[in-house]
Amino acid sequence: MSVPPSGPQVAFELEGAGCRYGKLDALVPTNLRIASGERLGLVGPSGSGKTTLLRLLNATVQPTSGRVSALGKRIDSLSAQSLRAVRSRIATIPQHLGLVPNLRVWQNVAIGRIGRRGFAGTLKDLLFVSKHSLEEIHELLERVGIEEKLFARTSQLSGGQRQRVAVARALFQKPQAILADEPVSSVDPARAASLVALLNDLAEEHNLTLVISLHNLELARAHLPRLIGLRSGHVQFDQDSASIGDKLFDDLYDLSGSEMLEDGGGEHR
Ligand SMILES: Nc1ncnc2c1ncn2[C@@H]1O[C@H](COP(=O)(O)OP(=O)(O)OP(=O)(O)O)[C@@H](O)[C@H]1O
Ligand SMILES: [Mg+2]
Repeated sequence: MSVPPSGPQVAFELEGAGCRYGKLDALVPTNLRIASGERLGLVGPSGSGKTTLLRLLNATVQPTSGRVSALGKRIDSLSAQSLRAVRSRIATIPQHLGLVPNLRVWQNVAIGRIGRRGFAGTLKDLLFVSKHSLEEIHELLERVGIEEKLFARTSQLSGGQRQRVAVARALFQKPQAILADEPVSSVDPARAASLVALLNDLAEEHNLTLVISLHNLELARAHLPRLIGLRSGHVQFDQDSASIGDKLFDDLYDLSGSEMLEDGGGEHR
């Protein structure tokens, strides 16, 4: 079991925090601590609660029980303004990336600051971009390996290139943490591995906390030091990835009775 340090270095903490939708426990009351700068993977079958946990961490949903702290703040006790400030320091890469296809690549990256600049400020940035911002965006695109796409229309990019735009947008936000929800679900294995490696390298370089939900267990085990296995809203394991054997993974994804129809048995290796 990996035990992150306590104190100010805690990036996220759940204290008996759970999330219910009607009668369904999407996440049962859970205790969890993620240290600042830690890199971890969330694995588990469809519907196991990965996205729900990420939404609790990025403070887009409030827990229905217990408490959640993000970047040192209890999210249930914050004013709307303070909540926005916390969220602006947490970059989320959603499963479908959330890019605007008709915008140029640099514009999608610029949207990364919307949490801090507000809607009107971001609109102004998109219409009258400063040379400094454009240089900054160019540097980020260089870092993620697609600088030649600065002025390309986003809809004309491949899936792998779009993922890199989403990573650049997350970095432009100057976050303290990146939460990526199945960021590699739609690309081939080589591109998936290269994106997870890139996120890892960037997290190390910038000392960011990184949480990635992944269906590819080998990738998760190879790149992320700590893995949390979720099943039906319960944490089934939380430990160093090196110590996780195939049996734990098999049990996590094991299809039983009623779940068989629901989960569809997606490939996980
Ligand atoms: N807004 C919502 N309203 C009602 N139920 C929800 C809502 N969001 C999630 N759920 C339910 O909560 C459970 C957990 O969903 P969640 O999206 O967290 O799973 P997941 O592990 O991310 O799945 P996947 O791998 O398919 O993305 C599911 O049973 C889902 O149907
Ligand atoms: Mg999900």
